[in-house]
Amino acid sequence: MDSAYWNEKYDTEEFIYTTTVNRFVKEYLEALPTGKMIDLAGGEGRNAVWFAERGWQVEVVDFADKALSKFLALAAERGVADRATATIADATGFEAKLAPADLGVIGYLQIAQEPLATAIAGLVAQLKPGATFFGVWHALDNLEGGFGGPRDPAVLPSIASLTDILSGLPVVIESVEIRDGQIQTKEGLKPSKTVIAKALVN
Ligand SMILES: C[S@@+](CC[C@H](N)C(=O)[O-])C[C@H]1O[C@@H](n2cnc3c(N)ncnc32)[C@H](O)[C@@H]1O
Repeated sequence: MDSAYWNEKYDTEEFIYTTTVNRFVKEYLEALPTGKMIDLAGGEGRNAVWFAERGWQVEVVDFADKALSKFLALAAERGVADRATATIADATGFEAKLAPADLGVIGYLQIAQEPLATAIAGLVAQLKPGATFFGVWHALDNLEGGFGGPRDPAVLPSIASLTDILSGLPVVIESVEIRDGQIQTKEGLKPSKTVIAKALVN
């Protein structure tokens, strides 16, 4: 999917991914001390704004300008515009203004393994030693009886593929795991599998 696809999706008043922080981002990262964070492919900024409200300096990097405008509007509405930076760029080649940062987050960047590996490496390279890398994706396992997210196996990471990507980077892997959850569909709540990766930068 290119930026035109995403801009068209974001071209509505509604926040399509809500304005509420992702539950895994909250669960895994809430205890971190305040610092600078980069939200790669951060979209409308639901996660970045949550960090900004907790005192972090935040930067959303995304190739969809419509998403970035909504992020900046949300940050202004929540009174944290002075801590919010937007950068329009492709995830596979970006320079973050807040680098080196204390935290790098990627939420649901469902792209093929090779560009994903490039994006993760680029993000890790813009984090400080000791910083946290955190990613969350619809998992490959979701294709078997799971709901939500894309159905193309090429853009669905697994524990093995993420471990492979992270193993080649200067990080210590803390966890790569599948989390079971539920997703609201027209037919009610259905099971959904999410893959999480958390690592500390060397
Ligand atoms: C499913 S949305 C998730 C947004 C946000 N992380 C969240 O959880 O609310 C995926 C985001 O990735 C962005 N994206 C997809 N491919 C990208 C790329 N190659 N470079 C930069 N952004 C990209 C899209 O514009 C979109 O905002």
